[in-house]
Amino acid sequence: MSEKYISIAIDGPSGVGKTSIAKKIAREKGYLYIDTGAMFRALSVYFLGRGIKAEDEEAIGRSLKDVHLDIRYEDRTQHMIVNGEDVTSKLRTEAVSRAASVISQFRTVRSRLLEMQRELAASADTVMDGRDIGTVVLPNATLKIFLTARPKVRAERRYKQLLELGQLDGATLESITKDIEERDYRDSHREIAPLKAADDAVIIDTSDISIEEVEAAILRALQNKINS
Ligand code: DC
Repeated sequence: MSEKYISIAIDGPSGVGKTSIAKKIAREKGYLYIDTGAMFRALSVYFLGRGIKAEDEEAIGRSLKDVHLDIRYEDRTQHMIVNGEDVTSKLRTEAVSRAASVISQFRTVRSRLLEMQRELAASADTVMDGRDIGTVVLPNATLKIFLTARPKVRAERRYKQLLELGQLDGATLESITKDIEERDYRDSHREIAPLKAADDAVIIDTSDISIEEVEAAILRALQNKINS
């Protein structure tokens, strides 16, 4: 392996369980967990807070220079800091999910975050999750995983998660299913860095297996890579 640090790229659609699984692997191996979706979400919080529409590519391009984005780790938990404000608790609403999916289509937004993501992976052993980690961000990742699950299963997981966080904000299982399908479509069909499995990714369908089984499969695949 040519890279200095080990990196595990975990990609897949919304609600597939990337974050929970990536966090577990990171904890198990003592690696740094990097949630790249949170970076798109943090920028969205900033734009929405300034009344800038997610679709307004020009205004977003212009105001990107006013955003100072920092990532801070407290007890291995990632916090997103926008112009000095910790916006971590605002990242998971449905409005922010939707805006993040829209702004992530824009070249200016992606290239700004790409640099940050690569710098982080060059600084420690990492588990990084997102949509294009194995294909674009870390094409030389030690291990690439692509998680899938049926849309219905993903919507139910998201519904439960929002319910537990008290962040349903009037959303129903039906509206979440619709949002997930829309986001899947946008994330997979955009021109730049669309959601897709890298040719050398290990594909795991998480619909009918437990998080522990997914974790075990990833750890086995990692061991194989490291030994090879
Ligand atoms: O993983 P997530 O749901 O927190 O991501 C939010 C949005 O950000 C998602 O709809 C697509 C975008 N995203 C992306 O385009 N590339 C990444 N590496 C991570 C997220």
